[in-house]
Amino acid sequence: MDPFSSKVFHDVGSGLDFREALGNLLNEFRLGRFADGDRSLEEAAIKTHLGHLTRAWDSVFADFPVYKEKRRTLLRFFKRERKDAHIRSIATAALKDFDGENLVIVNPAAVEGRQARRLAESLPQFEIIGTDIDARWETLYRLLTCGDQQNFRFVRENIYDPDLGRKPVAIIFFGACGSLSDGAIDYGIQVAAPFLIFRTCCHENICRNTGIVKKRTMINRYFAMKNWQFARYRRRDEGFYFSGKFNPDAYPRSEAARELGDPQTYLQVARNAVDSDICIAIIDLDRALYLQEQGYNVMYRDEVFFALKRNVDLPGREHLSA
Ligand SMILES: C[S@@+](CC[C@H](N)C(=O)[O-])C[C@H]1O[C@@H](n2cnc3c(N)ncnc32)[C@H](O)[C@@H]1O
Repeated sequence: MDPFSSKVFHDVGSGLDFREALGNLLNEFRLGRFADGDRSLEEAAIKTHLGHLTRAWDSVFADFPVYKEKRRTLLRFFKRERKDAHIRSIATAALKDFDGENLVIVNPAAVEGRQARRLAESLPQFEIIGTDIDARWETLYRLLTCGDQQNFRFVRENIYDPDLGRKPVAIIFFGACGSLSDGAIDYGIQVAAPFLIFRTCCHENICRNTGIVKKRTMINRYFAMKNWQFARYRRRDEGFYFSGKFNPDAYPRSEAARELGDPQTYLQVARNAVDSDICIAIIDLDRALYLQEQGYNVMYRDEVFFALKRNVDLPGREHLSA
């Protein structure tokens, strides 16, 4: 992978227009031109309205995974790990030359900590902290693999009530369902983390939603079962996946998107997101606009984000600032 150049990133990222793309996709949604059976409307809309974002991404980052499967199919969903490998490699390229004391990366919604441990291998100068509200999977994984890395540790933590005492250089995550992604983004903003590199997922779960518009597709049936379980988490209200901070009125998150769509629209977009990359992009472009409003330059492609804070001076990395 080419060395990461933040100058190139800021030059390309600062010029990206997410607002017009969002407006165009909301028009497709309002015209009902989404979630079509053979995904041809989906593919055409993503190409037409997000092509400039994809080209910008490819001009800075190489090797974004190419899928032969149609959009929003179960087979393609099950191959999302390929995006996680891409995230690990672009994060490593951006962070590998860092040196200094107390270099920390936080990986929220870490599950068993597998991705965090891989980051720890490729970035030995960093302490990688995997956090999750549920410690059971990490405990089991550690016992089964009976190994641990010196620069990795796990902390049981609710991303909606995170430890703000850390000063991480980067927040990196590999699929944080629904509003967990927004909780992790807000955590990164609150601790002024220079880098936010992540994949969003389960977009239907923003707005405390578990209802999905029924479609005769395998992915729809799969997510109908998943959301039956997620509705139980919401009823139990023990902090798993849902938070009162992210009820329907919390969306859209950015000022720019609030001029284009209201909470009711975003709830309908969420209910249709399982079968629609157009709906997923409508939710993610709002997040990109929100990050821009919070002082970051952002690049986005297919649920994957790379955000770098503007005007941030990092010891020994002055050339990183925009
Ligand atoms: C299902 S996993 C994410 C994997 C992802 N869906 C993917 O695409 O690969 C979500 C993780 O978030 C954790 N989680 C749920 N609610 C949380 C919270 N409030 N704070 C932190 N982690 C939470 C769960 O325990 C689980 O390990």
